[in-house]
Amino acid sequence: MRAHASDRLSEASTYNLVVLLVGANMVKVVVLPILFATLLFSTALGEKPKAEAFGKTAAGKAVSLFTLKNDNGMVAKVMTRGATLVELHVPDRDGQLADVVFGFDDVAGYESADNAYFGCTAGRVANRIARGKFTLDGKEYSLAINNEPNHLHGGVERSLDKVVWDAKPLDNKYGRGVRFSYTSPDGEEGYPGTLTVTVTYILPKKRNVLDIRYTASTDKATPINLTNHAYFNLSGHGSETIHEHVLRLNADKYTPVDDTLIPTGEIASVEGTPLDFRKPRKIGARIEQLAKTAALGYDHNFVLNEPESDDKPNLAAILFDKSSGRRLRISTTEPGIQFYSGNFLAGAKGKDGKVYAHQSGLCLETQHFPDSINQPKFPNTVLQPGEEFTSLTRLSFSTDADAAGKKSPASPKKAK
Ligand code: GAL
Repeated sequence: MRAHASDRLSEASTYNLVVLLVGANMVKVVVLPILFATLLFSTALGEKPKAEAFGKTAAGKAVSLFTLKNDNGMVAKVMTRGATLVELHVPDRDGQLADVVFGFDDVAGYESADNAYFGCTAGRVANRIARGKFTLDGKEYSLAINNEPNHLHGGVERSLDKVVWDAKPLDNKYGRGVRFSYTSPDGEEGYPGTLTVTVTYILPKKRNVLDIRYTASTDKATPINLTNHAYFNLSGHGSETIHEHVLRLNADKYTPVDDTLIPTGEIASVEGTPLDFRKPRKIGARIEQLAKTAALGYDHNFVLNEPESDDKPNLAAILFDKSSGRRLRISTTEPGIQFYSGNFLAGAKGKDGKVYAHQSGLCLETQHFPDSINQPKFPNTVLQPGEEFTSLTRLSFSTDADAAGKKSPASPKKAK
């Protein structure tokens, strides 16, 4: 950030005052280097992402877009509608950037029926609640049934993916980012309690990592489950299929579902099933075995193996694309991950006219288990007044060239 004229004036008068007080030699040896270092430091910290107009919602609300860039050329774009990840440009093994997530060019696209939660923050309760019903503190609550016969991703009109959030750009020692915040009034989409939620995206300056941090607090007991719903194709969004992507999941177990995709309550081993990704496997290798199920492919919650330590997010998934060499490693403080292989995608037209065909993108949604509010044996999703919910999901990108010890070029070429 450039210093303003008034800043320079005040710097000059401070200089004269310091000379008077401590003498010229002292100024040269001690004070000037300190001043210089402070100036350098404040310049390095002075690059908060700026808000750009992205358009307006049908109801006339302005939506802003923020561009986060790091020193390696990685770029993430996030917007205030739904605290959504709109673009994510990461280098391949030759340093060539591609946008690896699904999205639309404008707000109207995000508001259209084609939007299958692309890149959004899903909630208040991500995934399904059986028949849209739960009982809490003796009271029964009814939610919208928007995925017959169940409630999905927080509801219809005022779920967290559809509202416009406030935004605060950040530039701190962790990197550049944006903190989105939203206060959902008591009763919104049928959920109890005034819920204050923040979602912070941070791109560290030197590492190809996107951190997504969540916080939430409430004034009444209420269920929450927050996730990001990005669809990835590591060859670039709009590429044909994710069948050739290789996936490893850090999960020995999963939660089987009924034919409406509601967990039966059982926690089963992946052993001997097409859900066994304990060793890296091609997604397409066994997906056909699931084609005739209600999910039409992969759409399962995996129970993450116990973390090795409490102070770091736990490894959840590693996704690799041989054609580009891109690798995505996901770690999280959440207990589960929904692997959804884009089975309900049906050719929506997205960014740059790209077509999002059946199974051409996949979601890896870190989360608490679906329908936890009705499943006493699953990890708790009820947030109590006075508690603060916090959670972190880290997306770390690398390539097979990094792995082979040949670091990818420091300044990647622009995507074609
Ligand atoms: C996923 C869910 C799928 C589908 C999708 C949105 O999170 O697991 O079943 O609903 O969202 O189309």
